[in-house]
Order: sequence, then C-alpha cells, then structure tokens
Amino acid sequence: MASQLRNAGITGIGSFAPPKVLTNADLEKIVDTTDEWIVTRSGIKERRIVEDGMVASDLALEAAKRALDSAGLTPEDIDLIICATISGDVPFPACSCIVQDKLGITGIPAFDLQAGCSGWVYSLTTACQFVRSGTYDRVLVIGVDILTSVTDWTDRSTCVLFGDGAGAAIVGPVPEGMGVLSTVLGADGSAGNAIRIEAGGSRLRTTEETVRNRQHFIKMEGREVFKFAVKIQGEATLKALESCGLTSDDIDLFVPHQANIRIIEAAAERLGLPAEKVFVNVDRYGNTSAASIPLALDEAYRTGRLKEGDVVVAVGFGAGLTWAAAVIKWSM
Ligand code: ACO
Repeated sequence: MASQLRNAGITGIGSFAPPKVLTNADLEKIVDTTDEWIVTRSGIKERRIVEDGMVASDLALEAAKRALDSAGLTPEDIDLIICATISGDVPFPACSCIVQDKLGITGIPAFDLQAGCSGWVYSLTTACQFVRSGTYDRVLVIGVDILTSVTDWTDRSTCVLFGDGAGAAIVGPVPEGMGVLSTVLGADGSAGNAIRIEAGGSRLRTTEETVRNRQHFIKMEGREVFKFAVKIQGEATLKALESCGLTSDDIDLFVPHQANIRIIEAAAERLGLPAEKVFVNVDRYGNTSAASIPLALDEAYRTGRLKEGDVVVAVGFGAGLTWAAAVIKWSM
C-alpha cells in the first residue's frame, strides 16, 4: 500500500527586530545621500540595527520563543531546527546549533541553510519535506540576518538598503487542503557575482590587504539585481500557483521579499494584484535578508491581515542568485 503524505503548514509564527532605529536622516550624516533619494529609489524610511554585542542567535532566539508561544509549544517539543542565514554569529558553528543551546535543548538535529534572502522559503520547503514524510512533527524554521555586520558604511549604494531582524515559524502537520500547497525553488549560479562578499573564504583568504580593500563587505550590482528580481518574483509566483491549480486571482495576500518598494510594486503589477493585497513593511525595516519574509508574515498575522483559510504567496530572491516562492493556505 502506498504511504500517505501528510499536509505540512505553519502552526506558529514570531519575529523580533532590534529596538534601535536608524533613520534616513541618520544616514545623511554618514554618507552622501538624502532622505528623498532613499525614499524614492527604495521606499525605505528607517531600519532596525543591532547594538554592539547583539548577535544573530540573540535575534533568532527571541523570534523562536515567540513562534513557540504562538504554537503553544515549549523548546522540548521541537524535532529539528533549520536556520536560514548568511550572517550568523560566526562562520561556524551553525547559528541553528547556537540557538539550540540557547533554547536549552540538546540532541535534536540543527543546521543552517544559505540561500541569501530566499533562505527562509528554501528552509520552509525543506521543513515541509520532513513533515510531509512523517519524519518530524515540529520543525523550527528561522530566518535571521544581521546584514549591518557586513555592510560597507562608506558605500552609499548599499548601506542605505539593509537592516537587521529575525523571523521564525513552527512547521507541522495540518488538515487536508491547508498549509503549504506548493513551492518553487531556483538558482542561477552564473549570475552569483551580482551580490557577493569577495574575501574571507578559500578563494581570497583574510589578509590585511583584503581588510584594507573592504572585501569583507557586501558588494552589489544594484540595477542587475533589480531587473532579475522583478522578473523572477512574478515568474516563480505564477509557477507555484499553477502547480497547485490556482491563479493570481486566488491570492488573498502577497508577501514578497521586502527589498525595495519599486521591485514589490513592479512584481505586483505583473501579477495584476491591487495594492490592498500586497504586504509592505520595507519602509520600516529595510532589507532584512532571510528574516524579511517571516518578519512580514508575522506582522501580517498579528495585525489581522492574514486569517485562517487565506491564500498567501511568499516569494523571495537573493544572493546566489536564488529565488523561492510558496503558496500557503494559512492554517492558524
Ligand atoms: N544616495 C544618493 N545617490 C545614490 C545613492 C544614495 N544612497 N546610491 C546610489 N546613488 C546614485 C548613483 O551613484 C547613481 O548616480 P549616477 O547616475 O551619477 O551614477 C544614481 O544614484 C542612480 O543609481 P542607480 O544604481 O541607477 O539607482 P537605482 O534606481 O537602480 O536604485 C538600488 C539603486 C536602490 C540599489 C536598486 O538598484 C535596487 O534596489 N536594486 C536591488 C537591490 C536588492 O534588492 N538586493 C537584494 C538582494 S540583497 C541579498 O540577498 C543579501
């Protein structure tokens, strides 16, 4: 007899952004920029940044605790931790292992997943496979980044865009017809140079020269990424909808990666979505990378924009280059 796959969905959600706010007016004092340029080109008005000493696992821990609370679970209930990040506390051990320790649990598997800003949807997809197969019942899926730790504060074309934050969800079995209905993942490594950190790996080891040349900070071909993002978010969304028999008319809430309001609006326009169906908080958080989508989903849920049975599409793009979309029938 063929074994039955279970439905997997989000049963708890939480997020945490550090309290310190960095406004565009603050940035005007650091680089040659203006509030007007930042708002018109990106839609960002302010972003949250960590205080010295606050690390990725601190943000992740707080988001994880909130997700556990919302699912009515304790740390001991978790079967697996997946943490999407490109800016963990240290290159290794994995941020997920550090979070496991901070949660006071040991023994369960924990690993990090690196797919830039698409990382959380990649991780959600991975978690769903374990739940659908019956291997695990409660997977903690975290997205966390402290991109300000790898931001070049002398480069006005990137430093105005990023912020810090974390979001987390509990993924478990949900009733038939609910939860994650389909996902689409993709990558184009040939375009990877568009968002990169050049040094600190085996290609370019850390030396005084790499530090002097600022090669440990994010470098980005903004226009190239912009064009890619607009195209791929629309395509990935349509593909994910098609594979579960839906169309963009069925979307109740569209939750795209919060990188730039112009990218969000262009993607929404391609999908024919009215503004009230598009979730936006990039104005207050900037681009928080892997945290962006769970942070947005959590805010949408807490503010009543997402209700049980709603069809939500979460879609992201990022370093790799990567992309990922998920169609979710909200099950909370
Ligand atoms: N303030 C004032 N002027 C600026 C600033 C600034 N902060 N930054 C750039 N400029 C100038 C440039 O020097 C340029 O001047 P020039 O024409 O004299 O050369 C001019 O503004 C226009 O620059 P563009 O790069 O063409 O501006 P654009 O409209 O493309 O906006 C932006 C730039 C916001 C970076 C946009 O391209 C973008 O959002 N790209 C996508 C980035 C992204 O989403 N990355 C996400 C992935 S990150 C991850 O995965 C970790």
